[in-house]
Amino acid sequence: MRKAAEGSIRIGAWVAALLFVWGLVLPAMAQTPRERLNIDKDWRFAYGHADEAQRDFGYGLRPFFFAKAGYGDGPANPEFSDVSWRKVDLPHDWAVELPFDQRGNANHGSKAIGHPFPENSVGWYRKTLTIPASDKGRRISLEFDGVYRNSVVWINGHYLGTEPSGYSGFRYDITDYVNFGGENLIAVRADATVEEGWYYEGAGIYRHVWLTKTDPLHVAQWGTFVRSTVEGSNARLDIDLTVQNAFKTAQGFAIRHEVVDARGQVVAETTQADRSLNAVSEGVFAANLTLGAAHLWSLEDPYLYTLRTSLLRDGQVVDRYDTRFGVRTVTFDPDKGFFLNGKAVKLQGTNNHQDHAGVGVALPDGLQTWRLKQLKSFGVNAYRASHHPPTPELLDEADRLGMLVIDEHRMMGTSPEITHQLERLIRRDRNHPSVILWSVGNEEWALEWKDIGTHLALEMQDFVKRLDPTRRTTVATSGSGKGTSVGADVIGFNYGAQHDVDGFHAQHPEKPAIMTEEGSTLTTRGIYFDDPARVHLNAYDRQGRPGSSLSIEEGWNRVMARPWMSGMFVWTGFDYRGETTPFGWPAISSQFGMVDTTGVLKDTAYYLKSVWTDQPMVHILPHWNWAGHEGQPIDVRVYSNGDAVELFLNGKSLGRQPMPRYSHLKWRVPYAPGILTARAYQKGRQVAVQNVSTTAAPAAVVARPYKTALKADGSDISVVWVQVSDKKGRPVPTADNRIDFEVSGPFRLIGMGNGDPGSHEVDRPAERHRYVSLSNWRSLAIDDLTDTSRPVAETADTANWRDPSQWLPPEAQPPLTKGLVLRGEFARPAINTGEQAVLFVGQLAPDQHLYVNGQAVTAQTVDGAQVIRLDASQLKDRNSLSYVMTMPAGGVQALYDQSVGGSRWGSLRVTTPAAPWQRRLFNGWAQVIVQSTGEPGRGHLRLVSSGLTATTVDFQAE
Ligand code: GAL
Repeated sequence: MRKAAEGSIRIGAWVAALLFVWGLVLPAMAQTPRERLNIDKDWRFAYGHADEAQRDFGYGLRPFFFAKAGYGDGPANPEFSDVSWRKVDLPHDWAVELPFDQRGNANHGSKAIGHPFPENSVGWYRKTLTIPASDKGRRISLEFDGVYRNSVVWINGHYLGTEPSGYSGFRYDITDYVNFGGENLIAVRADATVEEGWYYEGAGIYRHVWLTKTDPLHVAQWGTFVRSTVEGSNARLDIDLTVQNAFKTAQGFAIRHEVVDARGQVVAETTQADRSLNAVSEGVFAANLTLGAAHLWSLEDPYLYTLRTSLLRDGQVVDRYDTRFGVRTVTFDPDKGFFLNGKAVKLQGTNNHQDHAGVGVALPDGLQTWRLKQLKSFGVNAYRASHHPPTPELLDEADRLGMLVIDEHRMMGTSPEITHQLERLIRRDRNHPSVILWSVGNEEWALEWKDIGTHLALEMQDFVKRLDPTRRTTVATSGSGKGTSVGADVIGFNYGAQHDVDGFHAQHPEKPAIMTEEGSTLTTRGIYFDDPARVHLNAYDRQGRPGSSLSIEEGWNRVMARPWMSGMFVWTGFDYRGETTPFGWPAISSQFGMVDTTGVLKDTAYYLKSVWTDQPMVHILPHWNWAGHEGQPIDVRVYSNGDAVELFLNGKSLGRQPMPRYSHLKWRVPYAPGILTARAYQKGRQVAVQNVSTTAAPAAVVARPYKTALKADGSDISVVWVQVSDKKGRPVPTADNRIDFEVSGPFRLIGMGNGDPGSHEVDRPAERHRYVSLSNWRSLAIDDLTDTSRPVAETADTANWRDPSQWLPPEAQPPLTKGLVLRGEFARPAINTGEQAVLFVGQLAPDQHLYVNGQAVTAQTVDGAQVIRLDASQLKDRNSLSYVMTMPAGGVQALYDQSVGGSRWGSLRVTTPAAPWQRRLFNGWAQVIVQSTGEPGRGHLRLVSSGLTATTVDFQAE
């Protein structure tokens, strides 16, 4: 009895617990009807062709394909078979996988892409999506954060649109085309033949793709705008909410806004009942709230709130939308410069493109974070996204880390297309506290001196103000006095030496000013004597373009001498591919950076660290490995934020010198191997010391991972720095050993580099496929399936066989026979040593038999595809593939209709294997990036170099 009672109590508790959980889950499910799913994983990719439709998988050959709905052609047709295509996860940049080639555009890093390389300039992506039947009734959208470039998108063979910009985010509502309860095929064709900028821009779907599902009554994309006004210790929030009603009937609803603080507590809320929208319409609903004791967002304390917006219909939450925002004030003062929350802040900025060693423009989110941290490590507090909209994740991270951003649009203009791009940028980014300024143009040479420049600047600023009255706008100009510079709200000077900045300030005392670009110094990391043959330039700070640009030190001094100047954005933070000033080929990357393409700090970054940070530091350049230079004077410079520095060679003082403000110290030191020591002092007390030693020869490989515990999400990364050390464990600064990388466990390598602007080594090894399509398909109806030796023979005369691509009206179809022979032909492909040729075949009937050149062959199933490996010696100039099978239902015509020009019958693929993962060190450094594949578990990165002790890094993903 007791037992039974206990049992029933336990069961009762269970049921209660279940009901409790159910109670939590059910409303939660009902309350989160919006889903935003990342769909970066499992795409198929293949190169198309920019000039030849045949090599572009027949794209554009089918009649009516741009006139009739659902007529997507070639790979845009859902029936097209892509089993032979490469599997890729996004973000993906196909350009970074291409070799360097002198015919490539040096501005774009001399990758083999663009006009001379039509075979490398078009990329196709396909993905199958299952959308459950339970989604019927919801609105379904595809959102692309950016595709480089000229992307055309189809869903289930239906054309959705074209986006010319390689940087603007775009979205297609696909609801009307969705196959609910089944598979849906997305096809994207990107064409990177024509470039946008004058720097490396990559190619392909290099940003995220999302699938968004909402109720027909929902918050519009980027549909919130939260503005804050600081009032004493409180903040007033003004909220504009854009709601869309896709129902064909009017809808009544309520709006609830809740402000959630960083601990997850609701600290303010407001509800508006009785709102309504007409059928198929959109409306903006204003609300305001007071945030008591508002916690301000600042560089030191980047505090974020979330506005949680709910739409309720009949008391039920039908949409929920989160907006992160920060409360801060931003002022550009024409006399006193920039203020954040009323506090003067000099903008210590860098310009950056979206480009990193090894991965090109396809930056995993973690890498964007890492890059921002790297910039912060030497005191950078501001980032100019030159010259294009950044990724949304970069701004999220700038919000989180405390980094101010100039958000830049390209190009100037007021046409609908340009205006729409600008509008999307502002709507997407206007809630980010990090964004302090919109830039609507950079060095618009054709108009920056002309009245039309002033006019367009004013028109665009006016447009921006209507979307965001809280921020000012700038145009970066290469010469001021007229045109865009007088039109700009905040004047952006590119390069002090190109402007009379004081004259401009005197003439336009009402205009705040900023150095949107300064520097463009040319230095190679770790190089101290010019070596033009290897495109290397010494790393001592000096003018890059004498007369028209300043050294970093001169630039900063000029800014500090002018209280009205808001700050300076160095050109650039990171080196980037392309813009190979002053060399051109064989240089492949720029040398303007404060850090190289992998993020290793150059000496100029230490100068900035000395003037941009308070953390005591001292830095000596150059290294002290000068065998062969014994007795010769070496130019030694020291950066420090101490007030004096003393230099020692092998313990002997070379003199103590006071540190001039915003500058450096120098000594000429006759070289003798040993240890160079710099001691920095503040008011006589030593605050920092650095030793630079002459090292012995490399003895061991050293790996320094940024982190070893990764999220098992298929996206998280670790940057691994690779060096070699001598027998005493000191990193060798001149080493150029080749390192081989091998990764195991749930990890993959996604890119490598070494910062050498002259290196033509592989960035990201990838196998490359070439396709030969089978042609001249012919079919023969047969009744006897037992003797097919004649029709499959090499010598078979197919002149009277049927061309299965010829459409016949049903009444003209030949009577169905028992069996069918289907035969296609292919020319001998060029197969180089090490390459593999494979024939992909379809499963056309359950009992099919296959013959290549008359010989029976058996297909193997590899990765879900049916393949026949071909031996080069087996192939002739002309070859045939024959199927013998029972007649499929619907006859050969039905077979053809589904095969999209034969794509499901056969295609020949020749694969060039990926190059090995190996890289040389450049002046002692290389980098490899490790990424989670998505599964949890442990794994290793093994680093091996001939003659040296190898090393292993253990990684964990969870
Ligand atoms: C500027 C330009 C930058 C970059 C730089 C190189 O004129 O705005 O994009 O080209 O020069 O010095």
